[in-house]
Amino acid sequence: MTKIGLGLAALGRPEYINFKEDSQIDKSEIAFKQNALAMLQTAYNLGIRYFDTAPSYGKGEAFLKEWQDSTQYKDTQLATKWGYTYVANWKLGYKGAHEIKEHSIEKLLEQWETSEEMLPALKVYQIHSATLESGVLENSKVLKKLAQIKQETGLSIGLTTSGPNQSTILQEASEIKINQQYLFDVFQVTYNVLEQSTFETLTNLIQLGKKIVIKEGVANGVIFKNCPPLLNDLADKYNVGIDAIALRFIIDTLQPFVVLSGAFSKDQLTDNLKALQLELTPNEIISLKTLGTKPENYWANRKSLAWN
Ligand SMILES: NC(=O)c1ccc[n+]([C@@H]2O[C@H](COP(=O)([O-])OP(=O)(O)OC[C@H]3O[C@@H](n4cnc5c(N)ncnc54)[C@H](OP(=O)(O)O)[C@@H]3O)[C@@H](O)[C@H]2O)c1
Repeated sequence: MTKIGLGLAALGRPEYINFKEDSQIDKSEIAFKQNALAMLQTAYNLGIRYFDTAPSYGKGEAFLKEWQDSTQYKDTQLATKWGYTYVANWKLGYKGAHEIKEHSIEKLLEQWETSEEMLPALKVYQIHSATLESGVLENSKVLKKLAQIKQETGLSIGLTTSGPNQSTILQEASEIKINQQYLFDVFQVTYNVLEQSTFETLTNLIQLGKKIVIKEGVANGVIFKNCPPLLNDLADKYNVGIDAIALRFIIDTLQPFVVLSGAFSKDQLTDNLKALQLELTPNEIISLKTLGTKPENYWANRKSLAWN
């Protein structure tokens, strides 16, 4: 399967975290739907088979389901999540958090009812942004329900992580067993040239046979704002954009199951996919490893990104 997948975080709703000033694109639901359906088809035509969405990505699940139902492709792998609700409701300039977290059994039951309609193309079901504070990894009702979904549907169960404690959460989650069986098969994690703190944990999980899905591969676009000269030099050398170098760094260092592209346009997606046409030398990888920043700084900066 192509190592790059497509995430719908920026495709399913009109505003998403970004370092840029507000853009002048058409933010109507019709325009977003047209773009999302076209992006899904372009991605498929370019070889992408893994698609990641969530209830909190606005219409992300609905657009993905509509496209899958209309194409009836048998080789796609759809992934979704539960635990966040989209509350901005397409109100442009919505003040406050656009998505609200709730890791309760009630939220799981409510959101699963919609997500399960994506079966049988749905292959991965994840806790959206598991944290130690939310108590979700100790919530036996939730864990048992996930185990039941896994047993009844054959889905892979996963979780996603964010923040400076990703490794601790991954470690803890990977040890959870229900009925003597490990519950989690898939871990969706932030790992990129600027945030490399999970490298060892991810390498260990891969060795244990877990599937690793990487998100925020170009650091939500932040690498374009403060581009380290090394990225520019390598982009020139390989005649690609810095995004392709950043995504290739992830593939070459980790060999994860898939790296998600967060592209909003066909041009961005085509640029991102150029990562598949090059291979970095060992010395280039060593140099890129020096770009890692302190996780606390990385996550503080990410928190400061605006929704636009
Ligand atoms: N589980 C979670 O909590 C979680 C969190 C985040 C993401 N995710 C998943 O991971 C996917 C990818 O993550 P992401 O979108 O947050 O991060 P990302 O891939 O690191 O960043 C995507 C952004 O980078 C910019 N970009 C990408 N390619 C570009 C290019 N060639 N030229 C210029 N700008 C470019 C775009 O910004 P502009 O649109 O501003 O141009 C784009 O929106 C999401 O869609 C979602 O499925 C999950």
